[in-house]
Amino acid sequence: MSVWAVLAAAGSGERLGLDRPKSFAPLGGRPLLAEPLERLEASSWIDAIVVAAPPGWEEPSILLAEEVGAGKVVSCVTGGATRSESVRAAVAEVAPDASVILVHDAARPLLDDAVVERVLKPLAEGFHGAVPGLPLADTVKRARAGEVVETLERADLFAVQTPQAFLADWLRTALGGDVAGATDCAALVEEAGGRVAVVPGDRRLVKVTEPADLELVEALLGREGGGNPV
Ligand code: CTP
Ligand code: MG
Repeated sequence: MSVWAVLAAAGSGERLGLDRPKSFAPLGGRPLLAEPLERLEASSWIDAIVVAAPPGWEEPSILLAEEVGAGKVVSCVTGGATRSESVRAAVAEVAPDASVILVHDAARPLLDDAVVERVLKPLAEGFHGAVPGLPLADTVKRARAGEVVETLERADLFAVQTPQAFLADWLRTALGGDVAGATDCAALVEEAGGRVAVVPGDRRLVKVTEPADLELVEALLGREGGGNPV
């Protein structure tokens, strides 16, 4: 079974508000992208990596991969206008004989190998995809125009993270259709009729969105003792 990782790193990071894309925001003394690259490289589950880089940042992304010794990076493509389009561009570079594709957001730098293992397992048990999910602590209500429409059954709800794993053919097919509006790849596979498992997520897989998230991830990284400057 060959497992390819697609690293979605092409976003501009508008909400972070820096003078460079989020993937090049400083984290632990080096560009954020170094962290997930190094971790995918170190994972014994991953055979090869394709990076979707921000337009104009392909070369620095390749250099960074070399600097951190990410020899599994076989390709670095220019990302698209949306996350789904970036993933689609990267998946196009995945070898035809890959059986599984793991899609991960560079914006979730603190990837632990245990999560990779958890999302891969259901693929051997009849599922077409698997996502890490965290139970919600807050009560969730649906509201329209400032008025509650309904209170949702919290036990059924999960905040879904990446990495997300898919049987390669299912992801390719799902990405072949209209991807506009999809906020994750699993939604596309679900739409295509695929069965997607939810496995326990990881609180350290915080998505760096606002400046405060970067501080939180920096603190978590420091606690791990990682973040060696290159
Ligand atoms: N992403 C991507 N291509 C895009 C948009 C997003 O590869 N066109 C990636 C980002 O690099 C990130 C992940 O998808 O790793 C999640 O996206 P998000 O957190 O929204 O990142 P940005 O789009 O960069 O941030 P913002 O929405 O604030 O601009
Ligand atoms: Mg975005």
